[in-house]
Amino acid sequence: MVDVLPNPDVRATTTLPVTLAAPVLYQNAALCAKENHRFQTIHRPHPIWGADLLYTGIGEPTERSAGRLRPPRCLHTMTASEKRSAWIVAILSGKRALVGGGSKGIGKACALELARLGADVTVVARNEGMLKEVVAELAGAGGSNHCYIVADFADPDALQTKVADHVEKVGPITILVNNTGGPPGGPILDATPDQLLQAISNHLICNQLIVQTLLPGMKSQGYGRIVNIISTSVIAPIKGLGVSNATRGAVANWGRTLAGELAPLGITVNNVLPGFTDTARLQSLFSAKAERTSKTLEEVQRNAIESIPMGRLGGAEEIGAVVAFLATPAASYVNGVNLPVDGGRTAVQ
Ligand SMILES: NC(=O)c1ccc[n+]([C@@H]2O[C@H](COP(=O)([O-])OP(=O)(O)OC[C@H]3O[C@@H](n4cnc5c(N)ncnc54)[C@H](OP(=O)(O)O)[C@@H]3O)[C@@H](O)[C@H]2O)c1
Repeated sequence: MVDVLPNPDVRATTTLPVTLAAPVLYQNAALCAKENHRFQTIHRPHPIWGADLLYTGIGEPTERSAGRLRPPRCLHTMTASEKRSAWIVAILSGKRALVGGGSKGIGKACALELARLGADVTVVARNEGMLKEVVAELAGAGGSNHCYIVADFADPDALQTKVADHVEKVGPITILVNNTGGPPGGPILDATPDQLLQAISNHLICNQLIVQTLLPGMKSQGYGRIVNIISTSVIAPIKGLGVSNATRGAVANWGRTLAGELAPLGITVNNVLPGFTDTARLQSLFSAKAERTSKTLEEVQRNAIESIPMGRLGGAEEIGAVVAFLATPAASYVNGVNLPVDGGRTAVQ
């Protein structure tokens, strides 16, 4: 959310270090165009980048620039007078994102990070109470109009209908984070056809249906970012996660195939591969492994950490930051990649 406040006296100032990870797009956002007065964006300290993302600007909307998106510009290339007259808004302002599995863990972290960059976010999951709590939290992070959809990825048709109805209400959604709960663990030899079909349905089929539903909106807006949350098992299978390993490979190649097909439209598709990330899912996998192997939970966790060059688990917000970057205009030429975010674990395997 860019908070619009009448503030005639503020001069444009910033201490924002302009880095690749924190590019600044300046535009006359529709929100600001509607306000026929000077405004100030509110600075919020960013938890990862340690800097204010939003820039304090001042200016009057003009007809010439109203509603028009200008090319991305870095602050350090702007003249002082440009800085004084430009409207600086969070980079994803005016864009809506849909985040699957958005009520906790990695999905919630992605939703929060996208909101911090100004996006309006719709989170999807099964537990309505948790979704409501996340939407309340998103309101404090940024963006201006957050919503949720209660849906179960076990029912792809119902999910697609709900997403389509939502688009009717809120308009085009141009950022999609494909994410849902992972399949249960176990050796692949023990997997039943139903378990395999269920996992393929929850991950591959749901992704496909959501993309097909959102694509017309991405085309109409001339903007599209699809990020698939998968797993480092795309690079090397993880012992004891048979169904997951098999499914992740399929989803990763689906994503890269789609990347080739959508590239001519300027829509990117990328796969983010989280390593051991400290969420409820990871803790339940560790507990199951401890039970299976008669080790203590601490031992299982210690063994996992020993395999990570960084010597620690990842934080969900560290996945969210990467996903949010891929959703920005700055990532326009990153397409079809499998990007591990794993503290270097797969680099040294
Ligand atoms: N954490 C890790 O270390 C790690 C590593 C690699 C890959 N991954 C993968 O990344 C994804 C997210 O992991 P996470 O750790 O964030 O998991 P998590 O903490 O368990 O969160 C899963 C999210 O998905 C939702 N969800 C689960 N099943 C669903 C269903 N059938 N329909 C709709 N929503 C559903 C959950 O909400 P509801 O229960 O309310 O529906 C929740 O919001 C998973 O696919 C996981 O396997 C995780």
